[in-house]
Amino acid sequence: MNQDELKRVAAERSVEFVQDHTIVGLGTGSTVMHMVRALAKRVKDENLDIIGVATSSRTRKQAEELGITMKGIDEVDHVDLTIDGADEVDKNFQGIKGGGAAHAFEKIVATSSTHNLWIVDESKLVDRIGGFPLPLEVIPYGSTKVFQRLENEDLHPKFRKDDQGQNIITHSGNYIIDLHLGLINHPHLLANWLSEQVGILEHGLFLDTVDTIVVGTAEGPKVLYS
Ligand code: A5P
Repeated sequence: MNQDELKRVAAERSVEFVQDHTIVGLGTGSTVMHMVRALAKRVKDENLDIIGVATSSRTRKQAEELGITMKGIDEVDHVDLTIDGADEVDKNFQGIKGGGAAHAFEKIVATSSTHNLWIVDESKLVDRIGGFPLPLEVIPYGSTKVFQRLENEDLHPKFRKDDQGQNIITHSGNYIIDLHLGLINHPHLLANWLSEQVGILEHGLFLDTVDTIVVGTAEGPKVLYS
């Protein structure tokens, strides 16, 4: 099976965790696209009465087109379960997100959610996180100063660029700086330091957030609980 098929394996299993009459957070990314398709099928086949809350306009559009009732995060008083992808996750369920530049919205929905479930193919399970570049969403004003500070701390920053070599722009009109760290020895310390830096809107470390992970493997889906 290729990586995309493994993503689909995890995604299709994950929708079994969705209960009727609940509010469901819908993440962003290629794994989530499989999940939204599978969830929409359940909604239709079982006539489920659920409300979706998207973490990006891409996900919202797909979900609406497939017939899932959607609301904005500020229109609901809670989210029961959020299903999202991840870029890397270790055995302690600490992870990196933001490869699709949506981690700020994803973190807002995740922290509003009673339960968080991630869907990953098995290549994303690692001993220690940091191999995947850690995304930071930064406010454009003063972003070169933030960049300099990150460089001074030896955090190997790089502005994320599009095909034309322009800084990519997030939903909120910000830039992404990726930290090419290779290995993160102390995720909590790094997360705290990044959270204190003026100009960084949100970092892609998702620590102590997720309680369930569904892994797509060639032998089928595996469910891990924290
Ligand atoms: C979006 O910003 C990310 O956090 C995604 O959830 C993550 O990059 C996983 O994406 P894929 O499912 O496309 O691998």
